[in-house]
Amino acid sequence: MRPKVTVVGAGATGGSTARRVAARGYADVVLLDIMADFAAGKALDLNQAGSLVGYPPNIVGTGSYEDTRGSSVCVITSGFPRKPGMSRDDLLLGNKEIIEIVVEKLLDESPDTILVILTNPMDAMAQLALHVSGLPRQKVIGQGGILDTARYRTFIAWELGVAADDVSGFVLGGHGDTMVPVPSYTSVAGIPVTELIDADRLEEIVQRARDGGAEVGGLMKVASAFEAPGEACAMMVDSIMLDQKRIFPCAVQLEGEFDIDGTFVGVPVKLGSGGVEQIMPLKLSSTEISDLKKSADAVVELVKIMGI
Ligand code: LAC
Repeated sequence: MRPKVTVVGAGATGGSTARRVAARGYADVVLLDIMADFAAGKALDLNQAGSLVGYPPNIVGTGSYEDTRGSSVCVITSGFPRKPGMSRDDLLLGNKEIIEIVVEKLLDESPDTILVILTNPMDAMAQLALHVSGLPRQKVIGQGGILDTARYRTFIAWELGVAADDVSGFVLGGHGDTMVPVPSYTSVAGIPVTELIDADRLEEIVQRARDGGAEVGGLMKVASAFEAPGEACAMMVDSIMLDQKRIFPCAVQLEGEFDIDGTFVGVPVKLGSGGVEQIMPLKLSSTEISDLKKSADAVVELVKIMGI
């Protein structure tokens, strides 16, 4: 039997995640949405695309959690999306109700699954999912850092006129406003970025990455980003399903690492078949540590509002 990956939420990001995971060819994909026919229609379209691209037409679009039974990984994208002018935090209480129901129903069918959370405000929703699921922290992972880092890398590549592939680095902290760039760990083909871009310009680039979601949404007006988020999720699923042990910035519950305890924060982790297999140690400056703590405090505030 082929392994199964479930994507909850057949909207733009869920659809783009499902398409990318299906195209990798190693797993069957279940696309679940409260609008069952919408999910079925999208799955039909994706299956037909498969005959052109070469992946098997094994995508199931459904509204029934029974179809998700035995999923190795479940990606949760469902929830209210951001509209222009809204912050990710504005979505908190509406999406809390959705995440609680979705996580409980998924766990009934796949008690050993690994959860990847995208729904905003992502860090708080990931913490909620950990709380509701009772899973160990290794198995509840938030996606935000790969996307923020993709934006950061893109802007650095444009600034220097170099291939984005050669820009390596990561951002830490919460997804968005409180993200913490780490220029000391950013390099271009091994050359520290600080030797190539001056500090003021780098700060402008970081700010654009921080506002990256709002910039895309502000331009599209009727949608928010879904291509880079879908790719980011698919890369996490790949690393888990194929035990690639890639190092990605992801939101995980810290338990004393970086002096933070009991809160989800984005940090570089090793992702393999067990989920988060290691939290990578970093030598951060005192400013970076205090920025990371501020980021964690912002998540704590949201968690308090949710009352969990
Ligand atoms: C973004 C939203 C979707 O960053 O979180 O694009």
